Amino acid sequence: MLHINDNFQKLPGSYLFAEIARRIKVYQAAHPDADIIRLGIGDVTKPLVPAVIEAMHRAVEEMGHEETFRGYGPDFGYDFLVNAIREGDYASRGIEVAYDEVFISDGAKCDVGNIQELFSSDAVIAVTDPVYPVYVDSNAMAGRAGDYVNDRWDRLVYLPCNAENGFVPAVPDRPVDVIYLCYPNNPTGTVLTKEQLKVFVDWAREHGAIIIYDAAYRAYVTTPDIPLSIYEVEGAREVAIECNSFSKTAGFTGTRCAYTVIPHEVCGLDGKGQRVELNAMWKRRMATKFNGVSYPIQRAAAAVYTEEGQKQIREVIAAYMENARIIREGLTAAGFTVYGGKDAPYIWLKVPEGMTSWQFFDKLLDECHIVGTPGSGFGPSGEGYFRLTAFNTLEKTKQAMARIGQKKW
Ligand code: MLT
Repeated sequence: MLHINDNFQKLPGSYLFAEIARRIKVYQAAHPDADIIRLGIGDVTKPLVPAVIEAMHRAVEEMGHEETFRGYGPDFGYDFLVNAIREGDYASRGIEVAYDEVFISDGAKCDVGNIQELFSSDAVIAVTDPVYPVYVDSNAMAGRAGDYVNDRWDRLVYLPCNAENGFVPAVPDRPVDVIYLCYPNNPTGTVLTKEQLKVFVDWAREHGAIIIYDAAYRAYVTTPDIPLSIYEVEGAREVAIECNSFSKTAGFTGTRCAYTVIPHEVCGLDGKGQRVELNAMWKRRMATKFNGVSYPIQRAAAAVYTEEGQKQIREVIAAYMENARIIREGLTAAGFTVYGGKDAPYIWLKVPEGMTSWQFFDKLLDECHIVGTPGSGFGPSGEGYFRLTAFNTLEKTKQAMARIGQKKW
């Protein structure tokens, strides 16, 4: 009989957001009248903007005519989207990215989850803690995380981020091969300055490590001079792979489009000690396992970079950031200590003394009918914290804060 990949047996419970969805379902079934406000998973609520919808409609129409119909697209994305990204997200900020360094995909979650296929099975992985669970779980499935003992993986190197260190992780205190960074950060909503990011780039260059940089929330940065791309840091091209997404930038969570940049300089060593470009490996991997994002969706994504598209998505982002402000101020007025929410759509709060993150989850659901995400679900250093998202509607966000404000915590 087939022997399964035993690493799956080591994974604790279910994927964080699947577990939360399950708990909501159970609660709603038991309390059918509860008007639950969801500030848990970071899913957008506003519709795609008109520029995006118009481009998608036009492309769908093209697919219905023999002269303009398209079958398989280019393995790594259509020229029009790759070049729009190079110009709109990089060249406009003084960063050169070559055409064949951009890979269009159906999601940053898939890319950050799949990229570990390029690492040796014994590569040592460092993650900030708390952390987006995909980095951890995908490496755990491949056996790199070791065993899950006392709420932590014994082969992972955790870089704690907490109120004490201002949510700025220290570089690893031992050799590691890969560091996952996500900025603006999910879940804490905090950011790194260019100088703070440079410390990681310099460390990676000095120690032969690479950085997987998840920039999915870059569009939410409002503070001047906070880097939107790791390539704003000198030397980052030698060590960093950057993953971006249209999900949070332009409301594509259900539409699916993203891209990853792998500069030619980023290399690893093969078994003979020869340098190998990760760009070439990813090309091989994508051409084998992926057939691209559909033409209408790539057209829709390219429309994000038009003048109209930019103006329209900026308005949507500003609306979500207004929700973030309401949440921050509402929680502060209710006596909570809050972090993030200024350059990211996530607000990270300290749960009341003596409670665990999951106890607070249950209390908030039961007494306020509000769903959030327990900090401990993001890693051991998340215990005692809780995440709310700014992605619900203005009305629901205000309602949620009114409910929280009425209670004594
Ligand atoms: C989150 O809530 O952390 C996000 O929705 C995760 C994701 O984009 O997959």
